[in-house]
Amino acid sequence: MLLKNKVAIVTGSSQGIGAAISLELAKEGADICLVDLKFNDKSQEFADRISETGRKCISVKCDVSSFNDAETAVAKAVEEFGTVDILVNNAGISLDGVSWKMSEEQWDRVLSVNLKGCFNFSRHAIPVMKEKKYGKIINITSINGIRGKFGQSNYSASKAGVIGYTKALAKELGAFSINVNAVAPGLIETSMLSESEDREKIINMAMNEIVMKRVGLPEDLAYMVAFLASEKARHVTGEVIKVDGGQYI
Ligand SMILES: NC(=O)c1ccc[n+]([C@@H]2O[C@H](COP(=O)([O-])OP(=O)(O)OC[C@H]3O[C@@H](n4cnc5c(N)ncnc54)[C@H](O)[C@@H]3O)[C@@H](O)[C@H]2O)c1
Repeated sequence: MLLKNKVAIVTGSSQGIGAAISLELAKEGADICLVDLKFNDKSQEFADRISETGRKCISVKCDVSSFNDAETAVAKAVEEFGTVDILVNNAGISLDGVSWKMSEEQWDRVLSVNLKGCFNFSRHAIPVMKEKKYGKIINITSINGIRGKFGQSNYSASKAGVIGYTKALAKELGAFSINVNAVAPGLIETSMLSESEDREKIINMAMNEIVMKRVGLPEDLAYMVAFLASEKARHVTGEVIKVDGGQYI
């Protein structure tokens, strides 16, 4: 097991990529604090699957864009498990529109969840990690934060911000043996895609770029995050690792 007896907080983990990451970290031996805006019956089934691995699992309802909610969520994890070893900042949204039609609310909400959410959770988890000179922070960005995407200026800016934040944190925290990395997914089959009216169109366009000729699955991300969260990646920090089947080479 790569993560025996570690404690992980995963944001945006009631479904999709965050859910797959949480399950994989639990399979590798970590106790899990699930954080999400909403939990439903399906997420309860999923929390039960985590418990079936033999690891402990708590669910904390929280809006990652709130500084105070994030503080409370981190405190709950510490109260329940005694510490935090791994933080995965995964919660993210998109509210698309071309820049000349984008509302202030669209811009602010995407930046608040995707970028400020990473700051909020890191800000409260770092003192715990710094104290014991151990920690792994993994931020989920996107290939569109590297290359920019038409109609997603808010999303692309937020994800590019996550990359800058990751690199700055890596420089600040290396002295405390805290690794900070980002993972950049390409197109992954989650509700973000399956609930889109343009699903077929999006897949067809992406397939022209994806050299592996398959749409990624949430577990493809989870395997990379589990590696980065482990001591096998102890000399990796400040990196942005694409998990995109070669969609953006
Ligand atoms: N699916 C893709 O193709 C893809 C590609 C690149 C990057 N990503 C990134 O991967 C991450 C996960 O995406 P996904 O596809 O699993 O999305 P998803 O919509 O399936 O899941 C996102 C989760 O985040 C939660 N969430 C949203 N806003 C929140 C908030 N303010 N506070 C707490 N939780 C909140 C949602 O409730 C949901 O459970 C996101 O950061 C996304 O930008 C996804």
